[in-house]
Amino acid sequence: MANYEALYRESLNDPDKFWGEAAAALHWEKPWDKVLDSDARPAPRWFTGGRINTCYNAVDRHVAAGRGAQAALIYDSPVTGQQRTYTYDDLKNEVAAFAGALRAQGVNAGDRVLIYMPMIPEAAIAMLATARLGAVHSVVFGGFAANELATRINDAKPKVIVSASCGIEPNRVVVYKPLLDAAIDQSVHKPSACIIKARPQAEAPLVAGRDLDWDAVVAEAQPTECVAVEATDPLYILYTSGTTGQPKGVVRDNGGHAVAIHWTMKNVYNVKAGDVYWAASDVGWVVGHSYIVYGPLLAGCTTIMYEGKPVGTPDPGAFWRVISEHGVKVLFTAPTAFRAIKKEDPNGDHLKKYDLSCMDALFLAGERCDPDTLFWARDKLQKPVVDHWWQTETGWAIASNPLGIEPMEIKPGSPTVAMPGYDVRILSEEGDEMPDGEMGNIVIKLPMPPSCLPTLWGNDQRFIDSYLSKYKGYYLTGDAGYRDADGYLWIMSRTDDVINVAGHRLSTGAMEEVLAGHPDVAECAVIGVADALKGQMPLGLIVLKAGVNRDDKDVASELVKRVRDQIGPVAAFKLVGVVKRLPKTRSGKILRGTMVKIADGESYKVPATIDDPVILDEIRGTLQAMGYARG
Ligand code: COA
Ligand code: AMP
Repeated sequence: MANYEALYRESLNDPDKFWGEAAAALHWEKPWDKVLDSDARPAPRWFTGGRINTCYNAVDRHVAAGRGAQAALIYDSPVTGQQRTYTYDDLKNEVAAFAGALRAQGVNAGDRVLIYMPMIPEAAIAMLATARLGAVHSVVFGGFAANELATRINDAKPKVIVSASCGIEPNRVVVYKPLLDAAIDQSVHKPSACIIKARPQAEAPLVAGRDLDWDAVVAEAQPTECVAVEATDPLYILYTSGTTGQPKGVVRDNGGHAVAIHWTMKNVYNVKAGDVYWAASDVGWVVGHSYIVYGPLLAGCTTIMYEGKPVGTPDPGAFWRVISEHGVKVLFTAPTAFRAIKKEDPNGDHLKKYDLSCMDALFLAGERCDPDTLFWARDKLQKPVVDHWWQTETGWAIASNPLGIEPMEIKPGSPTVAMPGYDVRILSEEGDEMPDGEMGNIVIKLPMPPSCLPTLWGNDQRFIDSYLSKYKGYYLTGDAGYRDADGYLWIMSRTDDVINVAGHRLSTGAMEEVLAGHPDVAECAVIGVADALKGQMPLGLIVLKAGVNRDDKDVASELVKRVRDQIGPVAAFKLVGVVKRLPKTRSGKILRGTMVKIADGESYKVPATIDDPVILDEIRGTLQAMGYARG
């Protein structure tokens, strides 16, 4: 086993050697001129001058190496009762054919393809096919509403949109086509074509002259070879929640991404070619990009695409069935999935029915892992449970327990240590380094390692303003926490308006914009309150306009519907309290942080700058009536 400390130091002291060696494991059409280009702006770049195709490395390379008959992707769908295995040969054929279909619609290197799909193999095929052409995909999570989709269409300006007739949630069939049609109606930019995968659970009427049937276009397609692009050219754009309703288009490049994600498979997760790796997430999130599609395939593993939930499809043994049936070595999911299983099967009775000897470790991320969940999972599984911390912007773990380098002692509540390439610092508001054990803003000293975002799509200035401006020479993670005397990181909270609901990243600012658009709402604040299952839940506090004399319940249910219609069901916005006033500082800033503490029953200091402290008592009363602010 290697030594973590030595590797970590080398990665910071000699990044060219460290990442140059990692890059040598991949196929390059042309080697890079520079490993690290420190002079690039707005941020340093990786592997400039190199030419690479990500799809080639994820698919064709394994076929060329003689592993075409190995399983590449297993689709396991308890919601439809289907299973299907694609070997690397099959995947290459399907991807090459769909790339041909995209090319027939005029998609070339650099063009964008927006993918709005459920968890079916065609979603991964569409991503890889886009990458094959050197084009840029932007996957939009299926739980977002038409309005969110329209925002992304306008920003990414896709030439083609790929979608399906429906997604399947345990309690309903989610028809996608009306959402897609509404989004295209709303958006200023119009795609030249939409390719729709028809599923038997819902029909999707096609718009003549614009919409095409997936099966029909594939049947006519000419299989297409890989088109190498500059390592620094974008592979994808993934929109994520920021402070406002306008999501941030995180850009991922081809070269750095492939190198870093490939490196993590051995060094972070300790898997190799032929192992079965399962990320129980969704292709619409970064976890799905990195660890359902690219990571396992770049490493020649078998990836699982699971269309179901941890509970209810059909029971809380669903995950154990998948692990034992397919021989999963590593499972990666969000802590909320384990809280859901624990709630329904606290004694782990379902677990006892399955042989999980194939499994080596469980990795958790997406939200802070509360120690209780970690203890429960470890006790029931009798395997290492690794909490690791990262974000859409980085694409891979900033901090983890590097099982493939040197397994380290687990401290529940901490995602362990900084990964190679990440020079993590804890800074005070003034920019001074905090002593061990003291909270501050978590930042990463530039350069960030490969795969981290080089900019936001079409908006260098927002990238600079959001991430690079607060502390010169450092990337602002948006998280607060501390480092302990052993070098372990502790990630405690966000410093902005982002909340994590069931592992889904959402913007309270975006929800406030929706509430504020209601004709009866004068003012509002959305806060993230603690939730035993989902980690956090959004809660809206609203002040009605003077003269509005309506039943609070009616207004509340209109607001819940409004957020569902405009942001989507994934926002899980269900809690609304009507108050007379909102607490503010004398300069008019709403005291959201104080309200969160009141709601969660935590101690708090009445801010010295508060306009009128009595308002806090009124807020507490409302929150108590809603079942919060206890203790
Ligand atoms: N398309 C359409 N709707 C979707 C959707 C999708 N892809 N995904 C979720 N939704 C809907 C759900 O049906 C639900 O709707 P409802 O209000 O009508 O019930 C709503 O969005 C909220 O979804 P969610 O927050 O996922 O809650 P849930 O009660 O359906 O499930 C968990 C809770 C914990 C079981 C589930 O969130 C889970 O498995 N999470 C962990 C894994 C994960 O996805 N992590 C993401 C990052 S790693
Ligand atoms: P996302 O971009 O959706 O991956 O969300 C990233 C954010 O989720 C981070 O900035 C953190 O706030 C939070 N997060 C993710 N993983 C962890 C973790 N292991 N511990 C604490 N917070 C986490």
